[in-house]
Amino acid sequence: MPNWRPTGPGFPFRLSWTSRCIVIIPFQGMAPRIGQRVLVAPGATVLGDVAIGDDASVWFNCVLRGDVNAITIGRRVNIQDFCCLHVTNGKWALTLEDEVSVAHNVMLHGCTVRRGALVGMSSTIMDGAEVGEGCLVAAGSLVKEGFKAPPGTLVAGWPATVKGPLSPAQRELVAGIWQRYVRYKEAYFKDGWPMAVSPAAAFPEPGFREGHLFP
Ligand SMILES: CC(C)(COP(=O)(O)OP(=O)(O)OC[C@H]1O[C@@H](n2cnc3c(N)ncnc32)[C@H](O)[C@@H]1OP(=O)(O)O)[C@@H](O)C(=O)NCCC(=O)NCCS
Repeated sequence: MPNWRPTGPGFPFRLSWTSRCIVIIPFQGMAPRIGQRVLVAPGATVLGDVAIGDDASVWFNCVLRGDVNAITIGRRVNIQDFCCLHVTNGKWALTLEDEVSVAHNVMLHGCTVRRGALVGMSSTIMDGAEVGEGCLVAAGSLVKEGFKAPPGTLVAGWPATVKGPLSPAQRELVAGIWQRYVRYKEAYFKDGWPMAVSPAAAFPEPGFREGHLFP
């Protein structure tokens, strides 16, 4: 774990203790693989078979638990505070393509979110569901198992249904958030917060890569 503390102008606090609150840790020999200029904020846990692309950000108190299947996060993805990402053993991995935004307090389980989509605050997306490119999942929605959201649509409700194509304002919202979050994490780096690094792991234990054999 790097030893760090914010150094930016006007930063009043010693925060070196927070380095101990960022948990990026192997599981059964499989270590998270983290790209360039990635922010993982204090309180977050990133464990096991998790790949995170360049310029992504994982905000305070998220859990990305890649223990029994793989979690793949694309480039310039933002996963905002208090999100929980998990997978299903032998069945459902979790993939977020490039430029996806996952707003605060979202639960993602064994699903796929295609490029540039926005998952609104406090939503839940279940195993096998697929959110199409550029979609907007409205705040507080439940996307049920296996549900397929066509590209460029608004998906909303509990359970969610397809409401239709995005309006120009909704498209602007979706396209704006991931870009803002790339700037936000750069502002944190400027303040001296550390870039996330992959921990060393010798090798995955036998069977782990092949299918996460797990009791
Ligand atoms: C979807 C959203 C953008 C509203 O857009 P809007 O253009 O004002 O949408 P409308 O009010 O015209 O609603 C369109 C339809 O979706 C429904 N809807 C909109 N937001 C909804 C929500 N959060 N939950 C359930 N249904 C919703 C409306 O009831 C309406 O349904 P209908 O056509 O059957 O009557 C907004 O509700 C939302 O979820 N924003 C995301 C906020 C967020 O998480 N931001 C990230 C923070 S970093």
